[in-house]
Amino acid sequence: MKRIGILTSGGDCQGLNAAIRGVAKGLYEHYGKDVEIYGIQDGYRGLIHGEYKLMDRDNFSGILTLGGTILGTSRQPFKMMRQIEDDKVDKVRNMKENYKKMKLDCLVVLGGNGTHKTANLLSEEGLNVVSLPKTIDNDVWGTEMTFGFHSAAEIATNVIDCIHTTATSHGRIFIVEVMGHKVGWLTLQAGIAGGADVILLPEIPYDVNKVVKVLRRRNERGSRFSILAVAEGALSKEEAAMSKKEFKAARASMEFPSISYRLAHELSERLSQEIRVVVPGHFQRGGSPCPYDRVLSTRFGTAAAQLIINKNYGNMVALQNGEIVPVPLKEVAGKLKTVPTDCSLIRSARDIGVSFGD
Ligand code: F6P
Repeated sequence: MKRIGILTSGGDCQGLNAAIRGVAKGLYEHYGKDVEIYGIQDGYRGLIHGEYKLMDRDNFSGILTLGGTILGTSRQPFKMMRQIEDDKVDKVRNMKENYKKMKLDCLVVLGGNGTHKTANLLSEEGLNVVSLPKTIDNDVWGTEMTFGFHSAAEIATNVIDCIHTTATSHGRIFIVEVMGHKVGWLTLQAGIAGGADVILLPEIPYDVNKVVKVLRRRNERGSRFSILAVAEGALSKEEAAMSKKEFKAARASMEFPSISYRLAHELSERLSQEIRVVVPGHFQRGGSPCPYDRVLSTRFGTAAAQLIINKNYGNMVALQNGEIVPVPLKEVAGKLKTVPTDCSLIRSARDIGVSFGD
């Protein structure tokens, strides 16, 4: 009998259930009745506290198009994994003990960056681990694409599309804040797809004077409106020059809830045009996965099942040059796939006149 544990960890995204289904169906097809799959509740939290249950085949049917995760999820910061907190729980020891209690042959982990650091830690601690890269941010190192990204990009693009019509009617400036604290893939994708005039990313610190100049120039040329796609982690040039401590203090003293509102305030002091802010927020992570994500999740899920069948543990499944390949967890852990500032996507946007505020 093969025993496999499966958990989803970190922020949810579209395609998690499709990927869980891919893993389960891939295993059932191969092992038939000779496999038991344990669903671990709320990510690493369930593994730490022993919250899991034996699933059956039916649990994995009818979930291909379902958003969220049937297993639940939670954020368990990697930096706290080896810390003993007030509850006196030794998290790593507990996770290893529960793995043993379930008599697992392999733990399957679906997650983003933080999740992969812990997955690697568990692998280094001797557990058999296989992982799948999920996140709307598409910032997991080693894979060209994560599932969730295209669905979120579709939603964010739709927001920009809708904003276009009202922005035109009223002749306003709109700032659309797109998710992504550390990386700007989603903002870049939705910004280009939605025809934003200005795109601000964490990777390209902006100069507010440049943004003002671009907006004024558009006005002078007769454009009634402007749309800015701004990543929630976009930074000004001054902020980018700060130390981590200075930056934290500066942000903490900000009277505005987010970068978009602060930018709107700064721009309103210099421009006479009306400015509005739209923050779609977690909308971007909700709902059904788009066809691309359903397919990618299924491919990742079945590839993960194959890794388990072949006992090829300690790997994340990844998309590279159109193929699904294993990438060692130790290579993935701790790295972030940011937007290269000279990539062709950025160049192409610049070529059509998009400003990055730099
Ligand atoms: O990692 C995915 C993500 O949606 C980021 O884009 C965003 O910055 C963050 O999660 C939001 O986290 P939370 O759901 O914990 O508010």
